[in-house]
Amino acid sequence: MSEKKWRTAISTHIGHEAYVRGYNLTDLVGRISFPEAIYLVLKGELPTEKEAKMLDAIFVSVIEHSIAPPSVIAARAVASGGNSLNVGVGAGVLAFGEAHGGALEGSMKFFQENADKDPKEVAKWAVENKIRIPGYGHRYYKEYDPRTKRMMDMAKEIGFYGKYCDFALKLEDAIAELKGKRLILNVDGAIAAIASEMGFDWRLGKGFFIIGRVPGLVAHVYEELTTEKPFAKRLDEEKEVEYLGPEPRELPER
Ligand SMILES: CC(C)(COP(=O)(O)OP(=O)(O)OC[C@H]1O[C@@H](n2cnc3c(N)ncnc32)[C@H](O)[C@@H]1OP(=O)(O)O)[C@@H](O)C(=O)NCCC(=O)NCCS
Repeated sequence: MSEKKWRTAISTHIGHEAYVRGYNLTDLVGRISFPEAIYLVLKGELPTEKEAKMLDAIFVSVIEHSIAPPSVIAARAVASGGNSLNVGVGAGVLAFGEAHGGALEGSMKFFQENADKDPKEVAKWAVENKIRIPGYGHRYYKEYDPRTKRMMDMAKEIGFYGKYCDFALKLEDAIAELKGKRLILNVDGAIAAIASEMGFDWRLGKGFFIIGRVPGLVAHVYEELTTEKPFAKRLDEEKEVEYLGPEPRELPER
């Protein structure tokens, strides 16, 4: 290994030309799609047509999901404080966590470590030990997550429905059988299973959500900055806040 302090296999400059994973950047422009370019930077090789189609579907499936999630609230609230687009979008990205987008990483790790086991045994272990399995459950969807169904249908159509997808859905059934109620495989779980089929390392999990959702955050922050007044995201304390502290009281003599 070289003695140089900074090392990368992703890109380099030769003279005035930039090379990404060995390909001249100007050759890539106009010849490959954005999802293909993302696959190239993440994996180091150009995707097949099927891989590009699957990755494209993954990004589209997470691009936006209403004004309600914590990341959009954070992004718009920070922008409404008088900050620029990048600050608002950055705040939104910081709101991604285990319960919102970040589940992808844990879910990929879980599938990559458990998919060779019997789903019924894994379900029994998870229920008995009250394990919160990343990629399962949803605040609103209780019967099924429509995005999961679409992603699984696409995985079948394109040819990425293998052992991870099969395990993920069998685990959902096994948990339902044990608990008597369905804990749905959410879109993060579906993407985690499909990304595992595509050979991605679980440590890239959160990256899929970041790459896919940032356009939605940019749109929200832009909308906030151009259509709302600064400070518009102040709460109406009377309507929206329940105060739980002590009644006003005298400061004791000190
Ligand atoms: C997303 C999430 C926060 C939704 O929560 P919720 O619908 O409000 O569910 P609750 O936290 O009220 O839990 C309801 C019940 O389901 C169980 N449960 C919820 N998610 C579970 C999971 N992923 N694994 C195991 N059990 C889970 C809870 O333990 C609880 O069980 P109980 O009724 O026996 O006490 C929750 O399901 C979760 O943390 N999932 C894992 C993270 C994840 O995948 N996030 C991405 C969402 S797109």
